[in-house]
Amino acid sequence: MPGETCNVALIGSKFMGRAHSNAYLKVAKFFDLPVAPVMHTVAARNAEDVAAFAKRWGWQNASTDWRATATSDEIDLVDVVTPNNVHCEHTLAALEAGKHVACEKPLAATLDDARQMVAAAKNAKGKSFVWYNYRRCPAVALAHQICKDGKLGRIYQIRGCYLQDWAGPDTPLMWRFQGEVAGSGALGDLCAHTIDTARFITGDEVSEVVGATMETVIKERVILEGGGGEISGRGAQTAQKTGASTVDDIVLFVAKMQSGALATFEATRLSTGYKNSNRIEIHGEKGAIRFNFERMNELDWYDATLPENLQGWSTINVTNGNANHPYAGAWWPVAHVLGYEHSFINETADILSVIGGQDPVVPLPDFADAYEVQRVLAAVTASSEQHTPIPLSEIQ
Ligand SMILES: NC(=O)c1ccc[n+]([C@@H]2O[C@H](COP(=O)([O-])OP(=O)(O)OC[C@H]3O[C@@H](n4cnc5c(N)ncnc54)[C@H](O)[C@@H]3O)[C@@H](O)[C@H]2O)c1
Repeated sequence: MPGETCNVALIGSKFMGRAHSNAYLKVAKFFDLPVAPVMHTVAARNAEDVAAFAKRWGWQNASTDWRATATSDEIDLVDVVTPNNVHCEHTLAALEAGKHVACEKPLAATLDDARQMVAAAKNAKGKSFVWYNYRRCPAVALAHQICKDGKLGRIYQIRGCYLQDWAGPDTPLMWRFQGEVAGSGALGDLCAHTIDTARFITGDEVSEVVGATMETVIKERVILEGGGGEISGRGAQTAQKTGASTVDDIVLFVAKMQSGALATFEATRLSTGYKNSNRIEIHGEKGAIRFNFERMNELDWYDATLPENLQGWSTINVTNGNANHPYAGAWWPVAHVLGYEHSFINETADILSVIGGQDPVVPLPDFADAYEVQRVLAAVTASSEQHTPIPLSEIQ
């Protein structure tokens, strides 16, 4: 199949629009792929902005008509990087038109939307993918391999935290604070990643949310009128008026896994001092691993099978292609480190490999896989609202 191409349409053009455009630009330079991406069309709502975006990032066409773009005969893969409440509408149109679809996380704003998306993907001609991109940090992929090889033995405990601090009282009421658009706050924005990472590394599933609490700490935010290119809305124009924030700023929950392991999860956009501390620690009978995205090139491993006098945390620099560190062979010499954008480029390589009939380096989430995260999000919300444990069997 080498020599084949895949015409890509991107729906949305801001934060993730940039991350994904960069990935399409770079991926075929670094990876040998069965199909090469062609940056065919980007669609977004503002004609002037999307034309400038297309020019800057190398898209051949710009459009304000997402539906015509997503269903065009010329398109093979539709990449959805819009807010969560429109993922369903955008992906269903593309799947019905026979396209492959890659959708940003969380799968949807609601469980109902997510369920429809899974059903549509099941019956579709095209394949579905979800951008749980942290799986494609080499250290997280190595943690998955270590766990799969049984090197941690029986897993006792999982500890996941995703900590950011950009959502203080000055941050305007962007879509991320509007429940009807985002679905949830720190839960769907950040904790969804941690839940996916925990499932991915351990191969285990949450069986019960034992207890959860979600808190809207800053209840009123200044209304956003336009502009602002960052997550935090810095530089945006705002109105004098305020409106209600309807999502959680902080979520904490305790879960039981099917294996019997216990897990705690914490996500917040108010953890003053932490910028993007996406961490997971997994403790097993034979050892433990820990990862912090702010040191994304490193995986810490504790080998409890060593003689006691040699036991201690070791730090693996996960950049050695000759040692088969996942994805490292496509990049630079050992310890010439990778960054945020590489997780997206690595995922793009795997998506194009799967479209071309090859295996991904490590498992790629499709809509059915991402639905399992969505069920946990729904269980956490229910547990917090009802002050009660929620078995996952109650969330279908
Ligand atoms: N994988 C990650 O690490 C990661 C990081 C950030 C965001 N995300 C996810 O990516 C998605 C987009 O987030 P973002 O940060 O890029 O948001 P953003 O606000 O920066 O960009 C959203 C884009 O969608 C467009 N848009 C909004 N509503 C639309 C509609 N109804 N029809 C067509 N276009 C519309 C906007 O014009 C904009 O171009 C969300 O689902 C978010 O959860 C994932």
